[in-house]
Amino acid sequence: MMPLIALTLLILGVATAVPTSDDNLVMFTIFTTHGSNISLPCTLTRHSGFSTGMRIKWTKFSRDKTMETDVLVSMGFHNMVYDSYQNRAFLREADEDDATLIITNVGLDDFGWYKCDVIDGMDDNTVLFSVELDGVVFPYFPRLGRYNLNFQDAQRACQEQGASVATFEQLYEAWRSGMDWCNAGWLSDGTVQYPINNPREPCGGEQNSAGLRNYGYQQKSSSFYDVFCFNPQLNGRFYWLDQPDKLTFDEAVEACRNDGAEIAKVSHIFAAWKMQRYDRCDAGWLADGSVRYPISNPRNKCSPTEAAVRFVGFPNKKHKLYGVYCYRA
Ligand SMILES: *[C@@H]1O[C@H](CO)[C@@H](O)[C@H](O)[C@H]1NC(C)=O
Repeated sequence: MMPLIALTLLILGVATAVPTSDDNLVMFTIFTTHGSNISLPCTLTRHSGFSTGMRIKWTKFSRDKTMETDVLVSMGFHNMVYDSYQNRAFLREADEDDATLIITNVGLDDFGWYKCDVIDGMDDNTVLFSVELDGVVFPYFPRLGRYNLNFQDAQRACQEQGASVATFEQLYEAWRSGMDWCNAGWLSDGTVQYPINNPREPCGGEQNSAGLRNYGYQQKSSSFYDVFCFNPQLNGRFYWLDQPDKLTFDEAVEACRNDGAEIAKVSHIFAAWKMQRYDRCDAGWLADGSVRYPISNPRNKCSPTEAAVRFVGFPNKKHKLYGVYCYRA
């Protein structure tokens, strides 16, 4: 008989999952962190007994879906685990219909797409999981302008935005998910780097391949750059404050307070944009005095070519030209 794959969604540890749907494909995005364990649920529903010759196969695809690697194949009593997944990947097998894949100690190469197949010649239901690094990396410079932070300033600047200085792994993962930023920033190991996906002249050269451009270790007290910050998650609610007037910066701070919240920080707008696909084409004040707006669905007049948190600038705080984004913990 034909086994059907039934879906249940489990959340393990720090992982959170967001279901989305694209045509007939069921997809889940699972956010996780380095070193965590994840579980990718897949359940067989059998109408009658075990069909001999049935195989369960878990496959991984690279983020652009061009590279395919086998993770695990199960044929009855015999399980094969491939390459880098040996000793780290196994089927949970909580009962005889459980084909849930557990991967322990998640590392950089584990991010991407996973697919659960039940192969007996008639299988058709496909479940895809996108496993993503939890959190968001964002480039930051303060009102002072570009290339004004030594390492200590950089640490403080990220903290003030509700974040920490990104690690190399975090920036690398952000680069692999498409980040392209042509200003060099501090990382937590004291190196200065920037992520380039579209090689071009002022950003390390057209003839260099895409990658992280690395200035190496810099003098922590006397070298001045931007910084890459990392915010692991969004615990509270980020929102646009609906109110009729344009506000000065001080009025914006006050308006959020009157709404039982605080004016949102830069890490909040990036986290809401990345993890909730927050989209709003209205420029609003943020706590550092910058004005930005988050666009997930690129469109004319908002951000025509790319999903991005748009930066308007650090306007004069007395200008009554913008609304405000608030954050309630
Ligand atoms: C992951 O799973 C392994 C094996 O089951 C366990 O020893 C380890 O403590 C788990 N790690 C985390 C971070 O939960």
